Amino acid sequence: MLILLIIFAFICFRNTYAENNFYPLFHLAPEFGWMNDPNGFCIFNKEYHLFFQYNPNSSYVPGIAHWGHAVSKDLIHWKHLPIAMYPDKWYDKDGVFSGSAIVEGGTMYIYYTGNVNLPNETPDHKQYQALATSTDGVNVIKYENNPIINGTQLQPDIRDPKVWKHGDKYYMVLGNSYNDGKLGRALLYISDDRINWEMVSVLAESDGSLGYMFECPDFFELDGYFVFLFSPQGIKPQGNKYRNLYQTGYIIGKFDYATNKFTVIYNFREFDHGHDFYATQSQLDEDGNRVVIAWFDMWEENYPENAQGFTGHMTLPRIIRVTSDGRLIQTPVKSIASARGRNIYSGKMNSGEIVYLKDNVGELLILFRFRDFEVLIESDSGSVKLSYDSKKRIVTLDRGGNDGIRRTSWRPKGKLMWKVYIDSSSIEFFCAEGKFAFSSRYFPSGSVRVRLAPNSEAEEFIVNEMKRTVDRAHA
Ligand code: FRU
Repeated sequence: MLILLIIFAFICFRNTYAENNFYPLFHLAPEFGWMNDPNGFCIFNKEYHLFFQYNPNSSYVPGIAHWGHAVSKDLIHWKHLPIAMYPDKWYDKDGVFSGSAIVEGGTMYIYYTGNVNLPNETPDHKQYQALATSTDGVNVIKYENNPIINGTQLQPDIRDPKVWKHGDKYYMVLGNSYNDGKLGRALLYISDDRINWEMVSVLAESDGSLGYMFECPDFFELDGYFVFLFSPQGIKPQGNKYRNLYQTGYIIGKFDYATNKFTVIYNFREFDHGHDFYATQSQLDEDGNRVVIAWFDMWEENYPENAQGFTGHMTLPRIIRVTSDGRLIQTPVKSIASARGRNIYSGKMNSGEIVYLKDNVGELLILFRFRDFEVLIESDSGSVKLSYDSKKRIVTLDRGGNDGIRRTSWRPKGKLMWKVYIDSSSIEFFCAEGKFAFSSRYFPSGSVRVRLAPNSEAEEFIVNEMKRTVDRAHA
């Protein structure tokens, strides 16, 4: 009898769990296989190109990285293109790792890291910087004299080149680990010809408090400041801060192109407070706004979608600005409006009312008064709670389960406004005009519905349907 019960419970659990399709409707994800970092974000022939770390052979492991490729006209509707780069050279045979792209004179110049494993040696890997080009935006050709940077004294962890042009020179920032792998830093290189590079300064470094390795560095001018955006590994949790395995954050300062020196004005702050946000890359959009996109996951997590043949999403692309108190605010690109479907609820909402989301996805726009407030996004496998504690002035995302809580202090002025994007297996939650964001994956089962907790009341609660913007044609 007990065995029959166990089999019955197993079948029920498996069915409820398997019934939800976790493939996103309006976030970029691989058609099959594994995706991590965004790479090579650029505009080429009036289209946005986004490459990404990709394993076409399995959705269960990162494997040996390739570069996947997608294009978009508006940063929201994406089309998949063939794999752009395979690990087929001696200097990238164990991974075509992360990098960036610039476009000049009808050519896309791609800079990336080639990873080579050295199984019986110490250190056990080496990383080379390499160049590749594309003139048609589909076929990518690796430069014949690669690698362009050997970095002999800086091995083994030197990777993720981000390149830009200023005046008639090219600049590259590289992530590195120094002091026997104990401290992270970012190195600045300059080139006159895109091919020969010279290291000119250490842009930023960890004194221990910023961890042992800086991954995916990015450096750009914004609103009169310079922003160093990066993904440090090895920062220890401190109260509500730095709760994820690795962080993504920024330092704001001034930079002098004459001396190549970056001076810190505002110290390190986390970019997003959710569970799953890593390895950002930025690019200017057609209107000159700085847009940031990130891998909507975190290393060493469970990825329930891998049983459905794919792993990993990208976050929604977000426009960033610097505030007067040295923070980055972030709002989803305006073209997200093109993914908005019908309005299914609009008005004052009281606890007790339940709104079912069509296809389990939706956009919530919420205005509430300055008092305790809680929204629940529920399914048969539990709920994700978004709440505001008006006494402690803390905003919380609680997705339940082990380590489900992420919070940060929020002292709103004026109206309390939330914007929430719910996709098939993700929640992106923006407070105020993007002053705080939480990005967390979740894996609902059955129908997803939204309601307010008892005693919560919204002045205005809008629920919109969302339309499909990313196809999974070849699955
Ligand atoms: C960041 C990262 C990069 C590296 C890539 C490998 O997530 O570890 O530093 O280039 O992923 O896939």
